[in-house]
Amino acid sequence: MSTHPKNAHITGWGRYAPDQILTNADLERMVDTSDEWIVSRTGIRERRVAAAHETTASMAAVAAMRAIRTAGIEPDDIDLILLATLTPDYWMPSTAALVKEAIGNTRAAAMDVAAACSGFVYAYATAHAYITSGMAKHVLVIGAELLTRFLDYTDRNTCILFGDGAGAVVLSASDEPGGGLGIELTTEPQGAYMIWLPAGGAKSPPSAETVARGEHYVRMEGKETYRFATRTLATTALASIQQAGLDPSDIDLFIPHQANIRIIEAVAKGLDLPMERMFVNLDKYGNTSAASVPIALAEAVNEGRVKVGDRIVIVAFGAGFTSGAVTIQWTADPARGIAGDAAVDPDDIKVRLPVDWDSVDPIPEALAELMRRPGSVDVPLDDVVPGEQDSKPQEVRA
Ligand code: ACO
Repeated sequence: MSTHPKNAHITGWGRYAPDQILTNADLERMVDTSDEWIVSRTGIRERRVAAAHETTASMAAVAAMRAIRTAGIEPDDIDLILLATLTPDYWMPSTAALVKEAIGNTRAAAMDVAAACSGFVYAYATAHAYITSGMAKHVLVIGAELLTRFLDYTDRNTCILFGDGAGAVVLSASDEPGGGLGIELTTEPQGAYMIWLPAGGAKSPPSAETVARGEHYVRMEGKETYRFATRTLATTALASIQQAGLDPSDIDLFIPHQANIRIIEAVAKGLDLPMERMFVNLDKYGNTSAASVPIALAEAVNEGRVKVGDRIVIVAFGAGFTSGAVTIQWTADPARGIAGDAAVDPDDIKVRLPVDWDSVDPIPEALAELMRRPGSVDVPLDDVVPGEQDSKPQEVRA
C-alpha cells in the first residue's frame, strides 16, 4: 500500500515589494513616453525599485519568511527550497542557497528554477511532484526578481514594463482533499529569441564589447510576445482546468501573470469569463516576472478575494517561450496571511555577504540619477547597439 500523501496544499504565502516607487511620470523624464500611453497600452501606473542594499535573495528571504510564518511552521521544517528567477544574484551559487541560509534553514536542498516569467508556476509544479511522490513534506516555492538592474533605460519598449519584488508559498503534504488539481506546462522554443538577454552566458561571455553593445539588458519583440501570451495563457489555463475535471466557469479567481492588462482581458474573453474573475495588481507593480504570480496570489488572499473551498488558477507565460498553469482548490484560512506578514520585519533578515569583496554600485546610472533628484534628467540617448535601426529618435522631457 502506498504511503504517499495524496495532496499538496498551500499552507503559507507571503510577499515583499521594495519601498521605492518608479511612476510613469518618472519614466516620462527618461524616455519618449507618456503616462497616457503606458496606462492605455499596458495598465501599468507604477513599479517598485529595489534599493542598493537589496538583492534578489534578500527580497526572496523576506517573502519566504512571511510564507513560513503564515504556515505556522519553522524554517527547519522545509525540506526543499525552489527559487524561480531570471535575475539571480550570482551565476553561482544559486540564489536559493543564499535564501536557505538567510531564513535559518539547515536541512533543505535548495536550487533555482529558470523558466522566466513562468518560473514560479514551473517551481510550483515541481514542488507538487516532490510532495505527492513522498520525497518532501514541506516545500518553499519562491519567485523573486530584480529586473530594474537589467533594463536599458533608453529603450522605451522594455523599461516601462518591469519592476522588482518577491512572493513565496509553502506547499505541504496532506491527505485531505484540495491543493493542486490539474497542472499544465508548455515550452515553445521557436520563441526563444523573442525575449532574451543576449550576453553574459557561455555563448557570449561578458566583455567590454558586450557591455558597450548593451547586450546585458533585456531585449524583447513586444508584438510577437503579446501574440504568444494572449493565445497561450487561455489554452494553458484551460488544459489545467480540464485536467482537474472542471470547466472555466467553475473557477472562482484567476491569478494570471501580471504583464499587461490587455493580455489579461484577452484571457477573460477567451475563456468567456468576466474581468471580476481575474485578479489584477499590475497597475502597482508592473511585470515582476517570476515574482508576479506569487505576489498577486498573496495579495489576492490577504485582500479577501479567496475563501476556503474556492478554486483558483495560477497561470503564467514568459521567455522560452514557456507557459504554465495550476488549478488549485484553496484550503488554508485566508486570515493567516496578514498575521504572517506582520510577523516578519524585513530589516531582521540578512543575506550573508562575501568576505573581502565589494560589489560595484548595482543601480543603473540613469535610474540612480532619476531617483536622486526631481526634475529633468539627462540620459544618454544613443542607440546602444551600433548599426541597429532606431525607429524613432528619443528626446528627454523636462
Ligand atoms: N511609449 C510611447 N510609445 C511607445 C512606447 C512607449 N513606452 N513603446 C513603444 N511605443 C511605440 C512604438 O514605437 C510604436 O510606434 P510606431 O508605430 O511609430 O513604430 C507604437 O508605440 C506602437 O507599438 P506597439 O509595439 O505596436 O505597441 P503595442 O500596443 O503592441 O504595445 C507592448 C507594446 C506593451 C510591449 C505590448 O506589445 C506587450 O505588452 N507585449 C508583451 C510584452 C510582455 O508581456 N513581455 C513580458 C514577457 S514575460 C518574461 O518572460 C520576461
